[in-house]
Amino acid sequence: MTLQDKINNIKSQFADAVKRLSLTKKEVSDIKNQFLGRKGSVAELFNEMKNLPPEDRSHAGKELNILKSELSTEIDNLLHSTADDSTSSPESSIDPTLPGDFIPVGSIHPIEKTIQEIKNIFGAIGFNSVYGPEIDDDYHNFEALNIPHHHPARDMQDTFYVADDVVLRTHTSNTQIHVMEEQQPPLRVIVPGRVYRNEAISVRSYCLFHQIEGLYVSQKVTFAEMKGTLEYFVKSFFGQNVKTRFRPSYFPFTEPSAEVDVSCIFCKGSGCKTCKQTGWLEILGCGMVDPDVFLKVGYDPEKWSGYAFGLGIERMTMLKYGIDDIRLFFNGDVRFLRQFR
Ligand code: DAH
Repeated sequence: MTLQDKINNIKSQFADAVKRLSLTKKEVSDIKNQFLGRKGSVAELFNEMKNLPPEDRSHAGKELNILKSELSTEIDNLLHSTADDSTSSPESSIDPTLPGDFIPVGSIHPIEKTIQEIKNIFGAIGFNSVYGPEIDDDYHNFEALNIPHHHPARDMQDTFYVADDVVLRTHTSNTQIHVMEEQQPPLRVIVPGRVYRNEAISVRSYCLFHQIEGLYVSQKVTFAEMKGTLEYFVKSFFGQNVKTRFRPSYFPFTEPSAEVDVSCIFCKGSGCKTCKQTGWLEILGCGMVDPDVFLKVGYDPEKWSGYAFGLGIERMTMLKYGIDDIRLFFNGDVRFLRQFR
């Protein structure tokens, strides 16, 4: 058989292979392989060129190149005109009876859940949520809150210093000062956010945690109003059956100050390990804003009065859900987090 015969042979085989209508892309690419692939029939002919007498080789090469480019053009046209396999080939189309892929759904972190809940409870009685800086100067975190230089809360052991005069805030109370510097009374805000303390890490304490600060400033505000508001909050959060107890206490920025206990949620007040057999759990600090704090922000203490409070969100969440290790909030273990879906 001459080379020309062989070329004609391939051409007619090719015409046969592609004459069927509606070839799929896969079929076209199989044909391409069969004729133009590395071991295809055209490559075979190129291979055979070495058996030709040298003087015939250049002519044969030209002929084969023409064949190759003709077939390539046809294949390209076919590839363009064939439909996607997904619509024309049953074997590669989508199978709607297969089960869907599993897409894991996240959950809201329990700390965020508590923050949202507390925002809603106070939002319902007119408190706006505002936010303050986590890195702050000594003045806003301590000085303006009546915490003098010798106060133990400033001790290097408790406070993370960023620079001589700059700290990671140790409480959300710093934002009381920022809010009052920027706004005129009356005002009614809560301040959720992160706070930092250089404490040994244990089941009860972590170097970072969350607080919510509250501040109400108006005229002739009474301690009784604060008590009523906090009682409303505690019952909304823990349930109508919990009792509250106000104990006299001391904070430099409030006078008088109190701490609020709730009847133990676990033993209902009869005494257990969590409440150390007292029947009560301490949950927040509060008091009437000290006139010295008003003076620092330029409010007239003769005209304005108010109350403030602060509570730890981790503690509230631990009590509400019976969580016994604060570190669980921070290590991202999905087995823990999944329980809050
Ligand atoms: N800042 C206090 C703390 O971190 C909590 C606190 C107590 C805030 C009494 C207040 C308050 O606003 O009136 O321990």
